[in-house]
Formats: sequence, C-alpha cells, structure tokens
Amino acid sequence: MVANRYFVQRLILSVLVLSGISSKLLRLYQHYQSMPFSLFVIYFPTFFVPEIFLFIAVWALLYNASGRFAVATAIGAGFLACVELVATSSQFSFYYVTGGEIRWGAAKSIGTSRRGMRLLLSGLVPTVASATVIGIASCIAAPGIWHWMTRWLHSLSNSLRPKSLTSKAPPRDTLEDFVSHKPRFYTFSAGLLITGLWVIRPAVPYDHMTEALPFALLGDLSSHSKTLKATSDRFPLPELLSERFWESPHGSYKGWKPTLGHAGDTGYANQKPDWAAGSLPPGFERWSLGSDADAGNLQDDKASSSNGNRPADPPRVYYDPAQDPMRITNLDSDLLESLKEALQERDIPINHIVMVFLESTRKDVFPLKSNSRLHSQMRATQNFEEDGSEAEFNKTLASLTPIAESLTGEHSGFNVTHANASNISTGPDRGGISFDGVLTGSTLSAKSRLVNYCGVQALPVDFMAENDLVPYQPCLMQILELMNQRKNVTADSDFPDDDPLEQKWQTIFAQSATGGFQDQKKHIRQMGFHQTLFAEDINKKRSKYWHHQMERINYFGYPETEVRPYIRDMINDTLNANKRLFLSHFTSTTHHPWNTPADFSRKDYFGPHSSLSQHNTMNDYLNTIRFDDEWLGDLMGLIENAGIANQTLTVFVGDHGTAFKEDCPMTETYQNPHISTFRVPLLFHHPLLPRMHLTANTTTISILPTILDLLIATGSLNERDSKIALDLVNEYEGQSLIRPFRASHNGREAWNMGVINAGGTLLSVGSAAVPYRLGLPLSDDLEYRFTNTENDPHELSPVLGWSIESLVVEAHLRDGAEAANWLRRADKVGRWWIKERKILWNY
Ligand SMILES: *[C@@H]1O[C@H](CO)[C@@H](O)[C@H](O)[C@H]1NC(C)=O
Ligand SMILES: *[C@@H]1O[C@H](CO)[C@@H](O)[C@H](O)[C@H]1NC(C)=O
Ligand SMILES: *[C@@H]1O[C@H](CO)[C@@H](O)[C@H](O)[C@H]1NC(C)=O
Ligand SMILES: *[C@@H]1O[C@H](CO)[C@@H](O)[C@H](O)[C@H]1NC(C)=O
Ligand SMILES: *[C@@H]1O[C@H](CO)[C@@H](O)[C@H](O)[C@H]1NC(C)=O
Ligand SMILES: *[C@@H]1O[C@H](CO)[C@@H](O)[C@H](O)[C@H]1NC(C)=O
Ligand SMILES: *[C@@H]1O[C@H](CO)[C@@H](O)[C@H](O)[C@H]1NC(C)=O
Ligand SMILES: *[C@@H]1O[C@H](CO)[C@@H](O)[C@H](O)[C@H]1NC(C)=O
Repeated sequence: MVANRYFVQRLILSVLVLSGISSKLLRLYQHYQSMPFSLFVIYFPTFFVPEIFLFIAVWALLYNASGRFAVATAIGAGFLACVELVATSSQFSFYYVTGGEIRWGAAKSIGTSRRGMRLLLSGLVPTVASATVIGIASCIAAPGIWHWMTRWLHSLSNSLRPKSLTSKAPPRDTLEDFVSHKPRFYTFSAGLLITGLWVIRPAVPYDHMTEALPFALLGDLSSHSKTLKATSDRFPLPELLSERFWESPHGSYKGWKPTLGHAGDTGYANQKPDWAAGSLPPGFERWSLGSDADAGNLQDDKASSSNGNRPADPPRVYYDPAQDPMRITNLDSDLLESLKEALQERDIPINHIVMVFLESTRKDVFPLKSNSRLHSQMRATQNFEEDGSEAEFNKTLASLTPIAESLTGEHSGFNVTHANASNISTGPDRGGISFDGVLTGSTLSAKSRLVNYCGVQALPVDFMAENDLVPYQPCLMQILELMNQRKNVTADSDFPDDDPLEQKWQTIFAQSATGGFQDQKKHIRQMGFHQTLFAEDINKKRSKYWHHQMERINYFGYPETEVRPYIRDMINDTLNANKRLFLSHFTSTTHHPWNTPADFSRKDYFGPHSSLSQHNTMNDYLNTIRFDDEWLGDLMGLIENAGIANQTLTVFVGDHGTAFKEDCPMTETYQNPHISTFRVPLLFHHPLLPRMHLTANTTTISILPTILDLLIATGSLNERDSKIALDLVNEYEGQSLIRPFRASHNGREAWNMGVINAGGTLLSVGSAAVPYRLGLPLSDDLEYRFTNTENDPHELSPVLGWSIESLVVEAHLRDGAEAANWLRRADKVGRWWIKERKILWNY
C-alpha cells in the first residue's frame, strides 16, 4: 500500500539521486588528475554535501506532503528531476563528444541561433543514450533508494524528535529495528568530519567541483564567468619600459616610448599622417573622428556613428604603436636574403591576392609528412607482414595531401611521386614561403579571422562580442578601400586601365557555408568586404548555379566545390572590370562532423591493428583533408585559367587546428589549450617568389603586416599607396615575416597570445623567446596548464595546477628555474593583456 502510494515519488527521488551522483562523479573524474590524489581522497566526502542536502530536502517534501500539496510537490520535484536528468545527460554527451566540461552559459548563447542549435543537436544521440541509461537505472533503483533514505532519515529524525513523525511513520515494528544509536552516531560523526573538512578546504578548485548540478546550471545561465581581477592597467614588467630602451621615430617608424603603461591612447588621433587628410573609409576612425571631427568626416563613419549618443561616451581609445609595451618591430631589418636576391633578379608582381582560410586545418596535414607523430600513429595500426607491403600504404598516404605538398614545396617523404599538381606553377626553387611554428591568434574561427584580416588581437570574451565593436585597427580590406578612394580612375582618366597599380581593388569573401552563424554576415561586412557569397546565396532555385542534388555536408553548408563556378565568375568579372582581385575564401568541409560528399571515395588510414571506432573521428578528418586538398588544386586551376597565376599572391592559413583522441584527452577546440588546436599552416604562395621553408614562432597576427610588406617590397603599389602602406605597416602589432623574426628585443619577448574558444575562459600565453606555454584560466573553475614544447612537442604531459603558485612549483621541479620565472611573468603579462584588449577594443 505504502509502496503504491509513493510510486511516483520514489521514481522522482531515484532519478534525482542517480543523475545528481553520476553528474558529480563525472565532474570529479574530469578534475581529479589536477590535484594531489591524497587530497582528492580526503576531501572526497565533502564533494557530495550539496547533493545530500538536496536529496534530503526533496525526500522530506515528497514524503511528508499530503493532499493537494502532495501533487504540487510531486510536480515541483518531478520538474527538478527532469532538469537534472537532461542536464546530466547533456554533460555526459558533451564529455563524450569533446572530452570537456559543459558550460551552460555558452550552450545558451550557441543555442540562440538556428545553426548553433544544430551544432548542439549533433550531440543528441549520446544525450538520449545517457538519459535512457540513467532512466532505466532509476526505475530499477527506485524502491531501494526510497526505502533506504526513509529508513535512514526516520531513524535519524526519530532519535532527534521521537514524536514528530509518528502519524506518518511506517508501522512501528519495522521502524523500531533501525532506531538505535548507531545511525545517529555515524551520521553525526560523519557530519562533523565533513564540516571540518569543508572548513579547511581551499575554495579553488573544490567549490567548483562541489557545486550541485541545479545550482551550477542556474549560476552559469544567469551570470557570466567570474573573471579574475587583473592587477593594474599598467604593464606588469615596468623595468622593460625603462627610458634607456626608448626609440625615437624615424621615417615611417613611430618610435617606441611607452609612458602610459599600455597601448590604448586617447590622444593618438592627433598624430595624423599627411595622406589621411580628407574623408576616410570606415576603419580609420582614429583619424576621421578624433582631432578634426568636422561634419564632413562623420558621414563616412557609419560604423561608429551607429552607437548613437557619442558625446556622453568616454573618450575613445586608439592603439598607439609607440605606446605598446609589448611591441617589437623588425621592419628596420633587411629583407630575407633569398627574397632580396630574387627581387634583384626578376619582377614578382602581386596584382591580385587570394586568401584561403583553411577550416580546422593543422600544420601536420599541410602536408602530411613521413615520420610525423600522425604518420607513426597510422603506421602502428597497419599489419605489413600480413597484408602486403608498406609501399601500398605509402601510396595511400602520399595521395592524402599532394596539393599541399606542391604548394609548400615540403616533401611528404613517402617516396612516391604521383602528385598531379598540374595547376600549380612552381619551379624547383620557386613557389613561396612556408612556415613552421605559426600558431593561430584564436581557436574560435571568427576571432581568428579578425586577427588575420585586421591585424588585431581578439577580445578575450565569449563569442563574437567584436561584432558590435569597431576593430582597433583598419582591416586589410579597408586599407585597400582607402587606396581605391585615393585613386581617381574614371572612364576618361589619364591612367591606362591596364596599369594594375592604378586599378582599384575588388574585395570578395566567398564560402559555401552559412553566413548565419553568430552573425557572420555582419562581421564580414564590418571588415569591409565589397562582395560576399554564402550558402544562402547558392541554395536558392534562382541562384545562378543552383542544381538538384546539392548536398549539405554539415550543419553549416555545402562542400566548397559548390562555390566553384561563382568564384570563377567573380574572378572573371573583377578582371573584366579592370580591377585587382582580393578574394578571401573560407573552406568548410574540414569542419566537425567531418562529412564528405557521398560520391567522394573514402579511405581508411588506420589499419587492422586498431578497432575502427578508436580512430573513427581522425579518419573522417583525414578524409575531409584529402577532399579539401583536391579542392585547393581546383581553386588554383581557376586562378591559373584566369591567366593571373604569375601575378597572384595566395596566402594559405588555418583558422585554427583541432584535437582528437590521438592528441589529448579533450577533443576539438572548445576550452582546449592543447597545442594541436593552435598549430596552423601558413604559406605565402606565388609562382615567382623564391621557395623558402622557415620557422617563425609567432601567431597569425603577423599575416597582415607581412602582406603589406610584400606589396611594398615587390613594388606592387603605386607611389602614393606605397607610402600609405609603409605608414600603416608600422601601426600594427605583428612583425613582418619576410624579414628576420625578432624573438626578443631589449629584454622584452615577442609574446604569442591565443584566445581559446569560446573566448572568455582560457588564454594561451606563449613567447617566441622560449618553448614554454601557459594555459591561463580566466575563471576560477578551470586549471592552469604548463607545457614545454622543447621536451614535449606534442604536449603529452602537461603540468596542471589550480593556482599559479602550485604550477610554478611543479614547473620548477620539472623544467627548472628559467621555466618557473617565465611562468610568473607569463601569468602577469597574460592578465594584463586581457585587460588591455578590453581597453583597446573600447569594450
Ligand atoms: C614508406 O615510407 C616510409 C617513410 O618515408 C619509408 O621509411 C619506407 O621505406 C617506405 N616504404 C616503401 C616500401 O616505400
Ligand atoms: C625510394 O624507393 C626506392 C625503391 O622503391 C629506392 O631505391 C630509393 O632509394 C628510395 N628513395 C628514397 C629517397 O627513399
Ligand atoms: C594531371 O592532370 C591533368 C588534368 O588535370 C592531365 O592533363 C595530366 O595528364 C595529368 N598528369 C599526370 C601526370 O597525371
Ligand atoms: C583626384 O581628383 C582631385 C579632384 O578632382 C584632385 O585634386 C586630385 O589631385 C586627384 N588625385 C589624383 C591622385 O589624381
Ligand atoms: C569571362 O568574361 C568574358 C567577357 O564577359 C566572357 O566572354 C567569358 O565567357 C567569361 N569566361 C567565363 C569562364 O565565364
Ligand atoms: C585544375 O583546375 C581545374 C580548374 O579548376 C580543375 O578542373 C582540375 O581538376 C584541376 N586539376 C587538378 C589536378 O587539381
Ligand atoms: C609565369 O612565369 C614563368 C617564369 O617567368 C613563365 O615560365 C610562365 O610561362 C609564366 N606563366 C604565365 C601563365 O604567364
Ligand atoms: C621555435 O621554437 C622551437 C621550439 O621551441 C625551437 O626549437 C626553434 O628553435 C624556434 N625557432 C625559432 C626560429 O625561434
């Protein structure tokens, strides 16, 4: 009878208990490696305190309520149990898919867009699976849990207040057996012990690990992560800014005189260069508003005038290169020797620029090389004795990235030459400059794009807050627009249309993926592109090359091959209009979930010595890499066929890397500081540039200055544009990669900062001067992480810690004093940098 009466209540309690405990166990499992095992064991019971109170409260409500109140409590508790079940299942699913810890606030902001919803839905199957498992387990365990809690709490409350429960207590005889001093004694001792442990336990990280799921959920959804307080606005290593290191301005160099302690200067607008007179396109607000804010200039400035009541705003801050405590320039050194020689020997015209932004493309697959870690991993799963020779396997691997091999000139080393690179004109000693060691500026694509195209550092806050702000530097497209504005090419112009240096630029952005994700269209427009192409422009029946069987390959859109005819036309149209082409293309097939079109013949890169599921995802990824490699050959063919190959600079760069189980426990980029999410290919391809293969331990922040420097060095700009470019290249943070890279200068290091997806929770801090990296958490529920890429290039054994102090100690023990000292500096500089970005972005 009693059993029937409590049927629903028992199930609710059971779901709540099992979800709560499994969620907590998962959370503990994700964190236990980062603390001393002994402490973990000692504090173990304290982790469950909130759950225990929650379970007791729910039990008490369910057990004691009667009549209407019983229905109400059952509904309330049932709702709580459902939320807990769904949240726990999502947590498991998220862990299964990415290896990481879910953050509800982030899920909320992804979930508000339709594409983002689909991204979340891709984890639906594991979510449903875990919900089912917990659900079934709850049904089985329901009577047991209810019975046990009832007995325990009865015995406890009876011994506390013997008379209070008599009316509702089960028949006395069953109860009496358990009313003894034992449970009370144990419970009170345990309670005392746990309270004691709780009191002595440090708040970080244990509070985060202790949070019960419903509260964690509420906390995350209602507020942003608690960001660490940065110490001061001023650069934390003032000894490096000492007057004896100051440099005076000369030529286009603005000098270096960091008196403010940071680069955000409200007075910078006064230093207006000659060429900036008159109206300026968006991107040059510092000179179009600032000092002479006359009405004429304001009209041009749509971007910032949209923010309405400007007079009341605090004075805008602009980036001042002479004030930047971190800035190191290398523009005063000579061009790289082989480039200088090549330029003396021949013209290397850059009349057109194509920038290929390679989705999730890691350096180790551009191209894949023999004896790399990835190759060894694949090789280890093969069975050459049994199933034939290694030659066949080598052939398969050699055909994985042949185009990347021809483009970079880096040999895969598989001793097979059957790459058909007929579309890529290169000679033995020609083809361009390929870099090792380059890291992305952010593992969130849209932030990474800002770094590449605008030469700014991304804002360390979650998602694209940048979309509502004005980048603190002009983007490349805006510079080209400025050059357009400064040209008076009209039909009856004196300038011959066939002089490319007098032609205007046409800036185009094309991708086969959607423009709807995270307001990408706005973002692209804001960066100054004249013309755009997204999935939405090709999937309509009235689209020019629409056809049946257009196949979506992932939740973002179509394979790149669908934009092929559009790109061909855009090139043709641009050339017909006597314009210079600036084409930016973002690939998409290499995005999660790594599907390839149905008619693409897939290959297995992992052999019989591994279960297929073990390397499934990596295998899918490699297939998309091969698909994109073929596509790049095709794309180069479009350039070749347009007859502009010899005058086109094609820049290839990964938006970020990615991680799989083969690399580290966490997969993909979300909150993942692992190096494989950061290493990207960077190639400046031009058939007439000398072939160079260099290492530059820098980030993609160097791309924009390098392009400007290349345009100037190759004489690809007219005199006026050259002057503008020379002036502007001195405004940016990055160094030029066609000159020897400066890893340090007067004691200051060339820091490499990387904003980790989704932006506001982790920062990667590195420096060209040392092989160390710090994963700096911006909220106190994530760990500090230290690696030494010299001894451990694949970051297989990071040092983890919950505070910088403990990390420094461990790094000292393992890697020595130099590493420990660097870590202390990196921590300070990293925190300052975060604050500095918010100042520079006027955030
Ligand atoms: C396959 O490639 C590896 C790596 O370059 C090389 O060591 C091996 O000799 C090659 N095997 C054959 C049969 O070509
Ligand atoms: C490539 O393989 C052939 C035999 O298949 C061998 O004679 C040659 O030395 C190899 N070349 C390299 C560079 O390994
Ligand atoms: C490479 O491909 C082109 C067509 O794309 C073809 O004309 C040529 O014969 C091929 N070369 C080899 C070596 O396969
Ligand atoms: C552009 O035109 C304006 C007025 O028509 C003239 O003052 C200016 O010198 C011209 N600039 C160039 C570069 O020809
Ligand atoms: C390029 O444009 C010219 C002139 O409009 C046209 O004749 C030609 O067919 C176009 N080529 C392609 C490949 O569309
Ligand atoms: C070369 O480019 C053309 C035109 O884009 C394309 O059809 C062909 O497949 C490409 N060939 C190779 C080997 O990439
Ligand atoms: C590109 O330049 C190279 C070397 O100057 C030359 O051999 C080749 O014919 C040129 N190709 C085109 C399409 O102009
Ligand atoms: C870049 O970093 C790697 C790893 O620390 C180091 O071996 C290499 O010498 C560095 N290269 C340059 C050019 O600084």
